[in-house]
Amino acid sequence: MSDRMLRVLHAFAAIADLGEELAETSDFDEMVRSALHVVLGALGIRRGAVAEYERAAASLTFVAVRGMDEDFPRELWLKPCGHDESGGFAEVSEASWLEAQLQSRSEGWKFELVSPLLVRGELVGVIMLGGKAIDEPFSTEDAELVRALGRHIGIGLHNHRLLREVERRADENLRLYDELRGLYKDTVRAFAAAIDCKDKYTQGHSERVGKYSEIIAREMGWSDEEVEGISVAGYLHDIGKLVVDRNIINSPNRIDAKQSSELNRHPAAGYEILAPINHPYADIPLMARYHHERIDGRGYPCGLKGDEIPPGAKIVALADSFDAMTTDRPYRRRRSFDEVLEDFRHNAGKQFAPEVVAAFCRALLKEVRGERRPRHILRMLGKGYVEGEDMPAQLEGLIAELESDAYMTASQS
Ligand SMILES: [Fe+2]
Repeated sequence: MSDRMLRVLHAFAAIADLGEELAETSDFDEMVRSALHVVLGALGIRRGAVAEYERAAASLTFVAVRGMDEDFPRELWLKPCGHDESGGFAEVSEASWLEAQLQSRSEGWKFELVSPLLVRGELVGVIMLGGKAIDEPFSTEDAELVRALGRHIGIGLHNHRLLREVERRADENLRLYDELRGLYKDTVRAFAAAIDCKDKYTQGHSERVGKYSEIIAREMGWSDEEVEGISVAGYLHDIGKLVVDRNIINSPNRIDAKQSSELNRHPAAGYEILAPINHPYADIPLMARYHHERIDGRGYPCGLKGDEIPPGAKIVALADSFDAMTTDRPYRRRRSFDEVLEDFRHNAGKQFAPEVVAAFCRALLKEVRGERRPRHILRMLGKGYVEGEDMPAQLEGLIAELESDAYMTASQS
């Protein structure tokens, strides 16, 4: 076989080796080091380096270096490339400019061949090689082989750059998404404050219902996303009150039947307001619509029964009623906690879903026992409201009753 034929075969083998290295290694630096190793081995060279080119900074970052002194730079800042007539960079001249910049320094580093790495005309890096071990000058074929191998390495650099760009954009998207979520939550809080502003007797009601709903859902094992959703639903459940006459909402006395039916429009109105919004959590409009439904079908606006009522609406309904019972109104003082527990016992399976009442009592019991902190429920109720040594036993008794078969069956009928 002729020398020329042997060299061609050798070149093919080197290209095949390089292809294998590039495909097998997922670590970028390792991949470039292996690629340089193949090039040096194919041509019998002891020293060399591969650098990545950053156009914006006019810099070279050396990714792989072999056979150089310790003080060989890791990064190289170049003189900015000259502009062409159109004001932009001419691709070919950029490569030549890089070559010229490096040639002037190559002597000190003893590099004999500088080959820019181009991908579709774009300069992505450079490979620099020292002289051959057998002290022969580089032939035209050697230079061709370096160019062929360089194309593979260039594609590796280019792909790495694309990957970094994708990662950067993904990070940016994540940041924007977080900002958007923050904005959504702030808007929800602002709306809750607007709802509560309209009703001068129930300050902070929406916020407390949001918090109670969140606690119950968490106790029932809902996912983080679902818990966030129900918290929003709690905040916004009374948004329909924005369309109800302020005098009815703020009446210091019990309202008459006509006023009552006007007030009872608020769940449906709330649904109308919330439905067109593309919420990050599903079912928020439905939770507002059905938060006055009852398990026994005697609620409004639709008279839904048992499991016809969405689970979230059952939770918001209990949170809403609990806050109404435990806060003062102009025509009545709030109930004692014993009375509230009695109401739970009496109305579980009628007004409330027993599993929801049981979850709420479990969360409260954990706070009473100091097993759950911060004690959100106790803090919202104020000091001294839930007290008595027998309170844990009372709650335990009620939970056991509520979790018994009789109650659970009632809630599904
Ligand atoms: Fe309501």
